Amino acid sequence: MSEVGTAASPLRVAIIGAGPSGFYAAEHLYKQKGITVQVDLYDRLPTPFGLVRLGVAPDHQKIKSVTAVFDRIAQRPGFRFFGNVELGRDISVDDLRDHYHQIIYTTGAQTDRAMDVPGADLDGHHPATEFVAWYNGHPDFCDLHFDLTQEKVAVVGIGNVAMDVARILCRTPAELAQTDIADYALEALSHSNVKEVYVLGRRGPAQAAFTTPEIKELGEMEDTDVFTIAEEVELDSLSEASLAESADRGTMRKVEIIQSYANNQPTGKARKLFVRFLISPTELYGDENGRVTAMKLVHNKLYKTDAGSLRPKATEKTEVIEVGLVFRSIGYLGVPLPGVPFNEKWGVILNDNGRVTHPNTKEPLPGEYTAGWIKRGPSGVIGTNKPDAVATVDLMLNDLKTGCHLHPTHPAPEAVASLIAQRQPHFFTYTDWQKLDALELAKGAECGRPRLKFTSIEDMLAALGK
Ligand SMILES: Cc1cc2nc3c(=O)[nH]c(=O)nc-3n(C[C@H](O)[C@H](O)[C@H](O)COP(=O)(O)OP(=O)(O)OC[C@H]3O[C@@H](n4cnc5c(N)ncnc54)[C@H](O)[C@@H]3O)c2cc1C
Ligand SMILES: NC(=O)c1ccc[n+]([C@@H]2O[C@H](COP(=O)([O-])OP(=O)(O)OC[C@H]3O[C@@H](n4cnc5c(N)ncnc54)[C@H](OP(=O)(O)O)[C@@H]3O)[C@@H](O)[C@H]2O)c1
Repeated sequence: MSEVGTAASPLRVAIIGAGPSGFYAAEHLYKQKGITVQVDLYDRLPTPFGLVRLGVAPDHQKIKSVTAVFDRIAQRPGFRFFGNVELGRDISVDDLRDHYHQIIYTTGAQTDRAMDVPGADLDGHHPATEFVAWYNGHPDFCDLHFDLTQEKVAVVGIGNVAMDVARILCRTPAELAQTDIADYALEALSHSNVKEVYVLGRRGPAQAAFTTPEIKELGEMEDTDVFTIAEEVELDSLSEASLAESADRGTMRKVEIIQSYANNQPTGKARKLFVRFLISPTELYGDENGRVTAMKLVHNKLYKTDAGSLRPKATEKTEVIEVGLVFRSIGYLGVPLPGVPFNEKWGVILNDNGRVTHPNTKEPLPGEYTAGWIKRGPSGVIGTNKPDAVATVDLMLNDLKTGCHLHPTHPAPEAVASLIAQRQPHFFTYTDWQKLDALELAKGAECGRPRLKFTSIEDMLAALGK
């Protein structure tokens, strides 16, 4: 063990990004016996918790209770939160190297994958990432507008995010009012004219990325009937064989639920939700004002790749559906951080199991690490990030033992605190966040909702008298 990590010279770690990965990394560092650690957790937003606050659907409140675990981590000795401090805007990688022995980048996936079809630039076509951020009250997205006067909406992709988007479009105002959805989104969705939602999967039911509780939940909404089409949900011979071979009971159950929706008859509910399979958008059509009016779809069949996976292949059969609003929900994407090596194609920080690597030599950069979605790509639930962060921190501890870490010129906690105070005087501490949290909960309680979110940074600052 090098001298770093003693009471006299604590291990100083900066974690950039206060989502689940950042908190789980901090937790594992604090669990270590015989080593004194001090963690500074940064986030570009004043509020912590990343996608737990700004991604997880508002009608999934129970999931958000994981923040109680994060609150406990934040109480550990030497832990500080610097909210409203962005790496690349307020602080640089060189600043971090000057002040810490180790740095962990846990910045998640901040944008989305593009849908490369003609007409993709038409108005009325949006990434699901933006709609999600909007209805959850993300300060960067609260001013967006979605044309909910449209009756027909398509959601491209059949992952769990597509399920979230479809549910939020189909829930009644009364259902939404029980959630912490942003106030302006509740207002807009309460006046929504949406009557039909099409969720579009390019492969078959056995390959659907959504999970079983999520597809089941679609059938349990107050005022929406859900349908599938019998011939699209019958398993083809390749899927049948692959499912039989894997004996995957979970997927079998999921397919059963999907197939059961093909027997549904309209019950007179106000909205209809169609989950379609084996079709891909090939073009968006627009009107003279550049607004989307329809989508051309090609029907697919599955083929087996040499690696054994089942992929979609276009057939000759096409159809056109009228839609006035389109959300592509085909995956999130990480963005580069200034000064941090990045793999543009995969949208992740260049790394070897969590050690950030040099783009040319491929050798680890001493003292720099990554965890979570920005390390491995945008997949996995909140809990998936825990073993991932633990694995990264274990490497850090091994490196520390061999003396491989940064050698900061200003390791004292006060030094970086005064730098931040100069660069971003309106930074938020964890105590500031807890005050904001209490205000949100109290405002929510007044109107029978779990919380009423602040959605602009200005309002957050004003509420705390900053
Ligand atoms: C729409 C949606 C719904 C989901 N719902 C569920 C669910 O119901 N249940 C479930 O288990 N999982 C769910 N997930 C998955 C879960 O949210 C992720 O697995 C998890 O949040 C990823 O954690 P992370 O810490 O890697 O990234 P994030 O949660 O994205 O956190 C990254 C943090 O880094 C900050 N940051 C980014 N750039 C900078 C910078 N330059 N400087 C400082 N800070 C920065 C961001 O502000 C953010 O707070 C959902 C995901 C999405 C997209
Ligand atoms: N309730 C929850 O637990 C919850 C809620 C939300 C998100 N999450 C998690 O967060 C992660 C991200 O979710 P996600 O939905 O963004 O991603 P995802 O699970 O990877 O799903 C992406 C979907 O987009 C499709 N797709 C990709 N490219 C496409 C294209 N060019 N054309 C048509 N379809 C395309 C994929 O189809 P293919 O399969 O054919 O590639 C897949 O159906 C997942 O791990 C998810 O489970 C969990």
